Amino acid sequence: MASLSFHTIHVLVFCAYLLISTSSQSLPHQPKKHATLFIFGDSLYDAGNNNYINTTTDYQANFWPYGETFFGYPAGRFLDGRLIPDFIAEYGANFASAGAGALNDIHQGSVINLNTQLSYIVKAKKQLRQKLGDEATKKMLSEAVYLTSIGSNDYLSPLLSNSVFQSYSYKKQYIHMVIGNLTVVIKEIYKQGGRKFGFVNSAPLGCTPVMETIKLGGNGEYMEEATMLARLHIRAFSKVLQKLESKLKGFKYSISNFYTLLEERMDNPSKYDFKEGKTACCGWGPYRGLLSCGGKRTIKEYELCSNVSKCLLSFSSFY
Ligand SMILES: *[C@@H]1O[C@H](CO)[C@@H](O)[C@H](O)[C@H]1NC(C)=O
Ligand SMILES: *[C@@H]1O[C@H](CO)[C@@H](O)[C@H](O)[C@H]1NC(C)=O
Ligand SMILES: *[C@@H]1O[C@H](CO)[C@@H](O)[C@H](O)[C@H]1NC(C)=O
Repeated sequence: MASLSFHTIHVLVFCAYLLISTSSQSLPHQPKKHATLFIFGDSLYDAGNNNYINTTTDYQANFWPYGETFFGYPAGRFLDGRLIPDFIAEYGANFASAGAGALNDIHQGSVINLNTQLSYIVKAKKQLRQKLGDEATKKMLSEAVYLTSIGSNDYLSPLLSNSVFQSYSYKKQYIHMVIGNLTVVIKEIYKQGGRKFGFVNSAPLGCTPVMETIKLGGNGEYMEEATMLARLHIRAFSKVLQKLESKLKGFKYSISNFYTLLEERMDNPSKYDFKEGKTACCGWGPYRGLLSCGGKRTIKEYELCSNVSKCLLSFSSFY
């Protein structure tokens, strides 16, 4: 995948340039004290990195109707508007890749896996040291915020390819492996100088449109599996974070309760001015749960909701 690595390095250089230019010159309206953002993860945060993976369109969103509400062009994001990090900052170094998991073999070859994302920050650090020197780089990296959204694909991918997690102990073991690999990455960022981490916990995976669709196809047990995996993951990961905080000096983190936040809105859409809480805005089949938005993947048919502002799951069904 030569084009991928070439491009990501290019992006890196560009982002590093932005970081440097925004931190050394004060732009108008910019608060004096601002931190650099480094972003890792999956489709929740991918701002277009997968555009450069030409082997498949499965994990790309650089075609209509993606992007239609905010950017006015297909911006490579898995929705019509902006991602969470877009609301926080316009500039930052974003390494996230739709479809990625904490395990390297999730959608291997079609996504930038978490370890590769990590290697880009190591490269960015080298480039920053050349430009800013050791002290300024150290300061920048320790004040930076590292936003991560990862884990959903580690559980959805096996379920969607029909592998049931037979036993409870196997589930626990699998979760242990997912969190283990994520922990390795967090520790490595810490070693590189990162101190401030922001996480979103797992989405209510069992109630996503794709799971609702699968349930109608007679595989209701997958839904329960997904819900259970998400809950166990959340519990185990919060313990790991507490441990890291007590063990690693200066380590700070915040985790948003994405599961509850989303579940509450899925169950009570009208309370939050939405009309639809469980159906995706763009896709095919019941709940528009089949990931066909844009008609560039295996399934070519797709349907759009009438008003995207009224639909909680603005476009995709999580991936
Ligand atoms: C891959 O996609 C990128 C971005 O759209 C494009 O610039 C590049 O030419 C493509 N490479 C190939 C081999 O198609
Ligand atoms: C977990 O992380 C290690 C070290 O980064 C890597 O070698 C290994 O392949 C990963 N395991 C999986 C299943 O992705
Ligand atoms: C869609 O919903 C939003 C929010 O309620 C509303 O402001 C807008 O007018 C609606 N658009 C259409 C075309 O109905």
